[in-house]
Amino acid sequence: MKILVTGAGGQVGLDLIRRLIAAGDEVIGSDIAERPACELSAAELAWRRLDVTDAAAVRGLVEELQPEVIFHLAALLSARGERSPQLAYAVNQGGTFHVLEAARQCEVRQVIFTSTIAVFGPGLASPVVDDVPLHPTTMYGVTKVAGELLGDYYRRRYGLDFRAVRFPGLLSAGLPGGGSSDYAPLMFIEGLRRGAYEAFCRPDTTIPMMYMPDGIRALFELSRAPQGRLSRSVYNIAAFSPTAQEIADAAARVIPGARFTFSSDPVRQAILDSWPQALDDAQARRDWGWAPRFDLDGMAAALVPEVHELLRAHPGLDITH
Ligand SMILES: NC(=O)c1ccc[n+]([C@@H]2O[C@H](COP(=O)([O-])OP(=O)(O)OC[C@H]3O[C@@H](n4cnc5c(N)ncnc54)[C@H](O)[C@@H]3O)[C@@H](O)[C@H]2O)c1
Repeated sequence: MKILVTGAGGQVGLDLIRRLIAAGDEVIGSDIAERPACELSAAELAWRRLDVTDAAAVRGLVEELQPEVIFHLAALLSARGERSPQLAYAVNQGGTFHVLEAARQCEVRQVIFTSTIAVFGPGLASPVVDDVPLHPTTMYGVTKVAGELLGDYYRRRYGLDFRAVRFPGLLSAGLPGGGSSDYAPLMFIEGLRRGAYEAFCRPDTTIPMMYMPDGIRALFELSRAPQGRLSRSVYNIAAFSPTAQEIADAAARVIPGARFTFSSDPVRQAILDSWPQALDDAQARRDWGWAPRFDLDGMAAALVPEVHELLRAHPGLDITH
């Protein structure tokens, strides 16, 4: 199956692409950025520069490639989005509209959208179910709510097979992309690189988290689930909900001697405090058999060799956070 991935150069993109290629799919990665350095050859992974804010360019590329499925990942994440709300609107809201329009015009069968716990606002009873009032406090959350609603509209109005997951904070050995949950992966990256990390949140900060391989599997399984089993287009998915202190403790167990401290940044802390502490993902479990495989300690053990590999591949790593 021919698949176009937008925002493919980010933390999720390459891991997703590896999974799709392993399944035998023909994948074209696209991003506003150049093709990232990776082990995939040009024959395995074609790459096209694409700015999703450019409607004509999105339409042109989809028309030229005629993909059967688009995984639409391109976005500005929460912390970056709060630094440039207008750009976040253009990329997240405008970009999603352009992708849906191109999919409609070029008869793409399916669009997979990566939504987020940032669609939720403060004050919701935990664990938060799929259908609650959505009053996000960030431009990122506002645009992701709009993306969910737009996609659902295209499904009902035009028969586009639109499906989405609401990702928790994702942890991997990829470089974090400016999300408010970045303190979690940075504990492992900086813990191994420098033996210490000062997190930008309070130790009691609690949000839903997930190890990247579970997140990638969720995207893959949702995309392939029989349409008849799906009772909705947007699903909560969950794995574990540790405090930041519990993540630091888990990191310290697998990185002996690493020291973790906390210095709360008011902007990022306010974003984190507006998100749910835990999600109810019963509908995803029931409809398409979703279940996470990694808990916090399982993830911590798996991350260490991956982060070592990242640090070997990028000896002069510059992490701005
Ligand atoms: N990483 C997480 O914890 C997390 C959690 C919830 C949801 N998500 C969602 O998953 C998706 C992928 O996230 P990620 O972690 O890989 O983010 P990332 O920031 O690492 O990657 C996003 C990619 O989008 C690209 N991009 C930015 N502006 C663009 C534009 N105008 N046109 C085309 N590409 C553009 C960037 O160059 C980058 O490669 C996003 O939609 C995000 O909202 C991620």
